[in-house]
Amino acid sequence: MRCLVCYFSPTGNTYKKCKEIIDVLKNQNHDVNMINATKREIRVKNNIENVIYDVLIVAFPVYSQRVPNVFAEYLKKIEINCRKAIIISTYGSVTSGNALAQAARILKCKGIFTYGAIAIPTEHSYKSVFKIKISPYSYSDELRKFINDAILNIYNSKTVSLKSKFVISMFLNQQLISNITLKLPKVNIKKCVRCKKCIFSCPMDAIDRNLNITTDKCIRCAACVIVCEYGARECIIKNSISRKIISKSIHGNKKLVIFT
Ligand SMILES: Cc1cc2nc3c(=O)[nH]c(=O)nc-3n(C[C@H](O)[C@H](O)[C@H](O)COP(=O)(O)O)c2cc1C
Ligand code: SF4
Ligand code: SF4
Repeated sequence: MRCLVCYFSPTGNTYKKCKEIIDVLKNQNHDVNMINATKREIRVKNNIENVIYDVLIVAFPVYSQRVPNVFAEYLKKIEINCRKAIIISTYGSVTSGNALAQAARILKCKGIFTYGAIAIPTEHSYKSVFKIKISPYSYSDELRKFINDAILNIYNSKTVSLKSKFVISMFLNQQLISNITLKLPKVNIKKCVRCKKCIFSCPMDAIDRNLNITTDKCIRCAACVIVCEYGARECIIKNSISRKIISKSIHGNKKLVIFT
């Protein structure tokens, strides 16, 4: 099969999962192309794919229980010659909310139907802000099984319905943590060595040559904070939530959500 993987991954978790999936597909002799929609220059291009694909794999992180706005807008406008999709999301082990069902709806409006969807718990993009360490966990076997089941669904023309059982988080702590946002990440001049890595890491081109951030462009993804090896991009959370609630709830939900 000819597969197109289209992903958005400011802090790299989603990209890592895409790589695992691509390895599985390549081992089965499927052709795989990739679009890295993390970079703004890719998203603003004339997004027309002339090749005919058998399956489109879309992958993104969950932001406030939804598809990140910037990626949702990109999905709406991209023109892809493909009718079948598999949806992958990663979430910071708080809650995956309604993101998979939302992505499936966007694709359906374009005549692309979903044959499998998964939300994978990972580390939270704000882990360095919260200063909370977690022991690593991986779901490689489950991910491999999921992708094989989804491919089988495509061969058997069996779409999945995400409407009936999408995840609504019932817990107040999950609601609070998933809606947490950062203040604009400032530069600590004393620590900064002007390596400019933060500029290149930004998916929104929001950081100028003088390392200042345009407030309206910033989506608070924390890529610039994580990439800075000198701890010079400092940021704090906007919401007034107690440390106790954060440390209790962050990384508190490591459930895979699978639709096959
Ligand atoms: C603005 C923002 C909102 C987020 N909202 C949620 C959320 O609602 N639930 C959750 O579990 N994780 C949430 N996260 C964590 C990310 O979904 C998670 O860390 C993801 O794996 C990051 O993917 P990436 O490394 O590919 O960018 C959020 C992260 C950011 C930056
Ligand atoms: S990545 Fe850190 S050290 Fe490098 S320019 Fe940005 S803030 Fe300065
Ligand atoms: S400036 Fe904002 S959008 Fe750009 S990397 Fe930093 S947090 Fe993300």
